[in-house]
Amino acid sequence: MVPWVNGLLLASSALVSPQGGMSNTTISNVRARLVESANASWELGTAAQALTEYSWPALSVFEASAFPPPPHLNASLNASDVLQIAVKTVSRKPSTSLPLIAGQGSAADPASIGVAVLLANWTRPDASVTAFSKAASGQLEHLLHNVPRSPEGAISHRQDEVQLWWVDVLYGYTTADYVYMVPPFIAYYGALQGGSGGRALLQVAYDQCRLYRNALRDSSGLWRHIALGKWQDNSHWGTGNAWAAAGMLRVLQTLNHSSDARMFMEQQTNLTQWIQEITTTSWSYQNRDGSLFNVIDAPSSFPDASSTALLASVTYRMAAFTNDTTLIPAADKALTFIQNNIDEKGWLQNTVDPYTFHTPSKAGEHSPEGQAFVLLLHAAHTAWLKWLSK
Ligand SMILES: *[C@@H]1O[C@H](CO)[C@@H](O)[C@H](O)[C@H]1NC(C)=O
Ligand SMILES: *[C@@H]1O[C@H](CO)[C@@H](O)[C@H](O)[C@H]1NC(C)=O
Ligand SMILES: *[C@@H]1O[C@H](CO)[C@@H](O)[C@H](O)[C@H]1NC(C)=O
Ligand SMILES: *[C@@H]1O[C@H](CO)[C@@H](O)[C@H](O)[C@H]1NC(C)=O
Ligand SMILES: *[C@@H]1O[C@H](CO)[C@@H](O)[C@H](O)[C@H]1NC(C)=O
Ligand SMILES: *[C@@H]1O[C@H](CO)[C@@H](O)[C@H](O)[C@H]1NC(C)=O
Ligand SMILES: *[C@@H]1O[C@H](CO)[C@@H](O)[C@H](O)[C@H]1NC(C)=O
Ligand SMILES: *[C@@H]1O[C@H](CO)[C@@H](O)[C@H](O)[C@H]1NC(C)=O
Repeated sequence: MVPWVNGLLLASSALVSPQGGMSNTTISNVRARLVESANASWELGTAAQALTEYSWPALSVFEASAFPPPPHLNASLNASDVLQIAVKTVSRKPSTSLPLIAGQGSAADPASIGVAVLLANWTRPDASVTAFSKAASGQLEHLLHNVPRSPEGAISHRQDEVQLWWVDVLYGYTTADYVYMVPPFIAYYGALQGGSGGRALLQVAYDQCRLYRNALRDSSGLWRHIALGKWQDNSHWGTGNAWAAAGMLRVLQTLNHSSDARMFMEQQTNLTQWIQEITTTSWSYQNRDGSLFNVIDAPSSFPDASSTALLASVTYRMAAFTNDTTLIPAADKALTFIQNNIDEKGWLQNTVDPYTFHTPSKAGEHSPEGQAFVLLLHAAHTAWLKWLSK
């Protein structure tokens, strides 16, 4: 390419997006704080996903190379930090427990580690090891356990009742968070299995997104946090909306890169719209400094770095997927906000307390999920820069 064309292209992409992003030192500190702080089941599952997207993108569902993964990993593609989470989880699991982590209040959160467990199975060096495969299929069985007919038939014919089964049996209530914990695991399981059983699981994953949206979305275009159970949180919690958008995005990418993608075109179209509905509405409430409020449409709440990071990551990914750059300026402002809110040790500041949902983290406390969201944002921004330079 003649140099001036190159220069012009560089100049035009600079208008679209700053080349900035986080320095390698900053991001490796963020990663170290994530690895040392993630402990709850969903934190471990989210950490495994973030480490995959950040360090081993070829294995993540955002790349066509995800299906199938290589049968054996090597030194340069070893996913050791991701597999470590799977190995620890499976080795601690009592043999009587179907969920990957026993004795959790939530039936759904342990499933978030399922993708890492499936990867550990698929790439295991010793083919005689069945522990990972059994653990993953036990977790799936647990999720599907109380659906009295084939998942496919049940869901297409008895929607409302299925919704209530999932609501009451699985979680006790519907929460937006579920969309990141369960459907991506079911979809990944289905994409690896292939065949009619695999296709049925891909459909279940999509249907769970659809049913949860039906239960939680309201006329604002945002999702309520928790509904239909013993307790409710009707607020448009930022992190809940971010979990929902990011979970649907993983299902969308899994469908798109599975060998059966062509049979799920309408599902892909719908997921795309449902994700864009959340991102478009959320950024319409963005603060001048790039942040979003903890309750997206409630300026009386407080700016929250966690949901801002996760929604920005979804926004970069979606722009590269749809070629629609409308929301990139919002994501760029959010990225700048996040960069300004990482301390020298690599902790994300100004996060919501992920256990109370509605108060800021106390001084000296941090959000493990927020740490993961920064890695997801960095990975998405890196992929976006790659898309721009195409
Ligand atoms: C930062 O890390 C990336 C990816 O590992 C690498 O390509 C790049 O050279 C690094 N940059 C610096 C300044 O070390
Ligand atoms: C880590 O998780 C385990 C099991 O879920 C729990 O028993 C333990 O209290 C947690 N540790 C911390 C520091 O939260
Ligand atoms: C490691 O495995 C990946 C995926 O199979 C492959 O693309 C890559 O070339 C391998 N690297 C080496 C050094 O063998
Ligand atoms: C896995 O890859 C990481 C990063 O490239 C490297 O630091 C580590 O030594 C590798 N581990 C093994 C067991 O090869
Ligand atoms: C585990 O991996 C093998 C391939 O090595 C595959 O045939 C099997 O279906 C996998 N199990 C699950 C639950 O994905
Ligand atoms: C993947 O998604 C892109 C963007 O929506 C679409 O153009 C493409 O047809 C999809 N591919 C498959 C195989 O579904
Ligand atoms: C996609 O969404 C449209 C509009 O809400 C709906 O009519 C259609 O049934 C959905 N398609 C699938 C496969 O769920
Ligand atoms: C985006 O552009 C690429 C090529 O530039 C194309 O392959 C892809 O289908 C486009 N996606 C959509 C959703 O238009």
